[in-house]
Amino acid sequence: MTPSATAPRMYRAGIVGCGAISRNHLEAFGALDNVQVVGVCDIDLDRARATAQDWDVPHAVNTVDEILALGVDIVSVCTPHPTHEEVVLKAAAAGVHVLCEKPIATRLGSAERMVAACEEAGVQFGALFQRRFWPAAQRIRSAIDDGTLGRPLMAQCSVMLHRAPEYYNRDAWRGTWENDGGGVLMTQAIHQIDLLQWYLGDVAEVYGKVNTYRHGGYIEVEDSATAVITFTSGAMATLEASTAVSPNLGIQLRITGETGASASLTEFPEGSDGRLDLWAVGERITVEPVHPEGVEPNVDLSTINGQLIPHHTSQVRDFVQALDAGTEPAITGKDALKSLRILLAVYESSRTGAPVRFAGSGASPGVDIPADVVTRVPAEAAG
Ligand SMILES: NC(=O)c1ccc[n+]([C@@H]2O[C@H](COP(=O)([O-])OP(=O)(O)OC[C@H]3O[C@@H](n4cnc5c(N)ncnc54)[C@H](O)[C@@H]3O)[C@@H](O)[C@H]2O)c1
Repeated sequence: MTPSATAPRMYRAGIVGCGAISRNHLEAFGALDNVQVVGVCDIDLDRARATAQDWDVPHAVNTVDEILALGVDIVSVCTPHPTHEEVVLKAAAAGVHVLCEKPIATRLGSAERMVAACEEAGVQFGALFQRRFWPAAQRIRSAIDDGTLGRPLMAQCSVMLHRAPEYYNRDAWRGTWENDGGGVLMTQAIHQIDLLQWYLGDVAEVYGKVNTYRHGGYIEVEDSATAVITFTSGAMATLEASTAVSPNLGIQLRITGETGASASLTEFPEGSDGRLDLWAVGERITVEPVHPEGVEPNVDLSTINGQLIPHHTSQVRDFVQALDAGTEPAITGKDALKSLRILLAVYESSRTGAPVRFAGSGASPGVDIPADVVTRVPAEAAG
């Protein structure tokens, strides 16, 4: 073999959107030997320039077309939710692979167009749900697959978070139905909804309620939600989610499988350990003694985002390895579409007061949620 045959393929990456989460992508690409970030893009050119300077990136631009013109192989989409579609469609048309932050879109139609465009163009479409890459989250997946838990029967998911008014007031797009597309479900609990559907499979029915308890003075969207989700396997999950909690109580996801064994994944308020804190398998219950002195509950978002960097790095590494192997990445746009469909069904159920039964799930009468469901939510959600 010649040396060139064994050399890893080099990739040129561009990042669109130089706000809070772009740091995670810059760190993640920086950790890989075979990727160079050649350009950053922001509609605020000064912000793009500052980012390029801080991270030693050769080009700073303010349009997607200019980033694509740099001849990139991969584009990371780190802009506000409703702008993702335009970036993804342009990247796909240019034959560029896409890594898009969650939620990939706030409307089903938009997400479907993005998935279809990437498929037609033959480019890979990765969706960022980095919490799947926690070792503890992977351990639960393995325990399902190897029979330790076996087929999941029940899940309880609690996403009880603190967000200060400044979080919503920081950017005009936050907290609006039009631009944020939803509240705690769309922006925070979507990560745990992704984990639920990864563990428990396809959804048959969703019943839910949303409400706005504490942030109603400055947001339109829900700050709290509850849901009962039934899966085609017959498994059931309950979900409670809120950003109206103070202090921050963190996140817990517990799964019980057909063997009777349970595992519980806890994300502490101060960040994202994502540790497995309860492992009730066989004759033993193991509870990990963590943070006996307590934790600081309401830490700032840059701390939380910073603690997610190792998991962004794992997902970005998986994505690049998939490009090398010519396979799909671990988490695709199609997976993201499933999570979006579930959370939109919570809004629809809250609006109508009836469960939403997913078409094709075998559940009767098999109605599906309309593609424009979010546009019809506000009056009910605010009530
Ligand atoms: N995976 C995670 O855990 C995680 C965490 C935080 C944010 N996110 C997601 O990342 C995305 C961005 O969030 P953020 O907190 O970084 O937002 P942000 O507001 O801090 O940054 C967004 C940036 O995009 C720029 N921008 C807006 N429209 C643009 C366009 N059309 N072209 C180029 N640049 C544009 C803005 O000027 C801003 O600098 C959101 O979808 C959010 O949900 C994911």
